[in-house]
Amino acid sequence: MSFDLLVKNANLPDGRNGVDIACSNGQIVAVERAIDAEAGQVLEAGGRLVSPPFVDSHFHMDATLSLGLPRMNRSGTLLEGIALWGELKEILTVEAVIERALKYCDLAVSQGLLAIRSHVDVCDDRLTGVQGLLEVREKVKPYIDLQLVAFPQDGLFRSPNAEKNLLKALDMGVDVVGGIPHFERTMSDGAASVTRLCEIAAERGLMVDMHCDETDDPMSRHIETLAYETQRLGLQGRVAGSHLTSMHSMDNYYVSKLLPLIAEAEVHAIANPLINITLQGRHDTYPKRRGQTRVPEMRSYGINVAFGHDCVMDPWYSMGSGDMLEVASMGLHVAQMTSRDAIRYCFDCVTAHPAKAMGLENYGVEKGCKADFVLLQARDAIEAIRLKATRLAVVKAGRVIARSPERRTELFLAGRPAVINAADYAPNEG
Ligand code: FE2
Repeated sequence: MSFDLLVKNANLPDGRNGVDIACSNGQIVAVERAIDAEAGQVLEAGGRLVSPPFVDSHFHMDATLSLGLPRMNRSGTLLEGIALWGELKEILTVEAVIERALKYCDLAVSQGLLAIRSHVDVCDDRLTGVQGLLEVREKVKPYIDLQLVAFPQDGLFRSPNAEKNLLKALDMGVDVVGGIPHFERTMSDGAASVTRLCEIAAERGLMVDMHCDETDDPMSRHIETLAYETQRLGLQGRVAGSHLTSMHSMDNYYVSKLLPLIAEAEVHAIANPLINITLQGRHDTYPKRRGQTRVPEMRSYGINVAFGHDCVMDPWYSMGSGDMLEVASMGLHVAQMTSRDAIRYCFDCVTAHPAKAMGLENYGVEKGCKADFVLLQARDAIEAIRLKATRLAVVKAGRVIARSPERRTELFLAGRPAVINAADYAPNEG
């Protein structure tokens, strides 16, 4: 028997070690020890981690790589970011959106990031971002699953043509219904926007992903409405609440009522650690709130939690490199999820959990799944996060589409080793 690709001696994120992975016709056909067969290409994993691709379930690809246009965000706040994006929208062209998005997708592939859900602003009457990203979605289809969310950035009711534009974007082929209830004029308008948007999704059979309670206001209650509408309209499993930062500041008794409601409605929760730690708490002096939603608590209720990148070099965030391991690292630090088990959970928050939130099919390193995976310069998921491990090879449909050289450093120190590799530093057995 001959396979297209055979990966030898791989460790998997779930703890299976030393397995071989055989791929044919873009599919994984076997995951077993010691597969003895011919293959068109053999990849020696050498006891290193092979993970399913990284998945970013919350991103803004229409704004990415626009840092500095037309100026920098001086206050560093969410609100100045939105105002700055408003200035940039006026001068945006479809060509510029496509060029920056494709450039970001190249970076994503190099990082083993092969599925992205991007919000796209629909409050610009020309729908520049929508036109650009629909074209990008087609262009990158062979290597990235790009899902688009119709996002009324300036408010469904607050921005005059938002609903008309949102419906038009969905007609044009945008996949998911978005929203921003905390940016509507009043709390009741925010709740009404959640209801309206969920009804649109239900009528059209679409998924929902809303920016929800992205504030430090402990009284923001839109995730409660989102869970309620999900239940009422039978949208269980198809709805995500993004950010949920208010939950950080909410009353503990109220949260003890809220979490079971989110779990019951099967609403996915998407935290954005890099962005939430920098944008939230900006009105505080000291103590300064961290502003990340309650990840370990949601985990304990069985809520599906994902971590998103949200922004890379745009009006809201000047950092970022498409590295979902950096996202996972920030998430675990902010949430103080430092047990071995909790760190492994944070790895799942940038792989399997966002894949579930996005409804990706045949995702995983299992027989019958798509032959999409990443070989990392790390033994396991914990080491991968600790080292932000080099992506030695990125495989899509059974074909290597990116390679990076192993990271190593030459030392010139008397009596010390000549070469070190950060991946050679392992925990002590005990
Ligand atoms: Fe966002």
